[in-house]
Amino acid sequence: MRASTVGRTVLLRDLTTLRIGGPAELWEVEGSEELAEATRRPYRILGGGSNLLVSDSGVPERVVKLGRSFSTLEALDGSVEPWVGAATPLPGLVRRAQRLGLSGLEGLLGIPGVVGGAVVMNAGTRFGSIADVLTEVGLYLEGRSVRLPVAEVGFGYRSSELPPGAVVTKARFRLVPSTPERVAKAMEAPDEARRGQPKIKSAGCAFKNPPHDSAGHIIDLHGLKGLRVGDAMVSHEHGNFIVNLGNATSTEVLRLIDEIRSRIDIPLQMEWHLWGQP
Ligand code: FAD
Ligand code: EPU
Repeated sequence: MRASTVGRTVLLRDLTTLRIGGPAELWEVEGSEELAEATRRPYRILGGGSNLLVSDSGVPERVVKLGRSFSTLEALDGSVEPWVGAATPLPGLVRRAQRLGLSGLEGLLGIPGVVGGAVVMNAGTRFGSIADVLTEVGLYLEGRSVRLPVAEVGFGYRSSELPPGAVVTKARFRLVPSTPERVAKAMEAPDEARRGQPKIKSAGCAFKNPPHDSAGHIIDLHGLKGLRVGDAMVSHEHGNFIVNLGNATSTEVLRLIDEIRSRIDIPLQMEWHLWGQP
């Protein structure tokens, strides 16, 4: 086994966009044999770390990250039903589809992370979600590679119901032939919708939107922008973004979340996945 795959201790704050999180044993794997070895003990899968709040104490499980061999951006050649590796960066995929004149991914413009994470989260915007353009998902599950048709994944709003322990290794998209110019044009509105989002350290929207409303709008209406616990703050630009002003801790973020919830009478469900004990 390559030395790099054997667990080494890392700080998860270095692997998450919110830049919060303590130590864990990282296994970066190439190929299914290494994935099999790494998943022999309790594990969590890390994608781009852009939807995670990780405890300052880290996590006791192995953190498994799919390596470059699971990224297939370069192999995309214009096929309208490409299989794309789970470690492929989503922004790169969206850009490449545009250059190839393939339509379908425009609404995902600006979402960070990798394809595997986007599948698990059913990432999307008001212009559409990734599940809308998938046909099948490739999984590694209990030592076997399996393919699941999209109808069997149980996709919901920012959610999926994959079998427990399943590792997404690839996803098959269904794209529509178009032209680079038309695809670029169709990206203008999704790009515009993102203008009001902060550029500093965050993990995107903290809460899911309640039915027929926007959590950001509600938080804003309650005057909570700028509310701060330590270095964790409700963004001045968008009420559903909690930003890390520098050295925020997970405890500060959780206290801020409690504070937001206590001041709003509508229940707000977390969109972020929380890792580890507070
Ligand atoms: P991670 O955060 O690494 O993981 C998310 C979950 O998926 C974890 O539970 C993890 O264990 C699991 N997971 C990851 N990869 C795998 C795999 N291969 N197999 C099994 N499980 C896996 N989200 C949106 O939906 N829409 C937006 O518009 C949006 N905008 C954002 C803007 C900013 C600035 C930021 C920082 C985030 C934004 N997000 C948005 C949130 C986030 O980018 C998405 O949820 C993204 O799809 C998460 O992907 P990831 O690879 O970073 O996953
Ligand atoms: N609004 C405010 N104040 C705010 C934020 C928003 O008044 O602080 C208003 C806006 O002016 C607009 C409405 O609320 O009239 C909706 O805002 P926006 O267009 O920003 O959409 P959103 O519902 O807040 C959703 C997704 C985002 C996605 C955008 C763009 C969720 C939880 N959020 O935000 O996804 O980027 O639409 O399509 O579904 C994410 O999931 O992490 C995420 C960032």
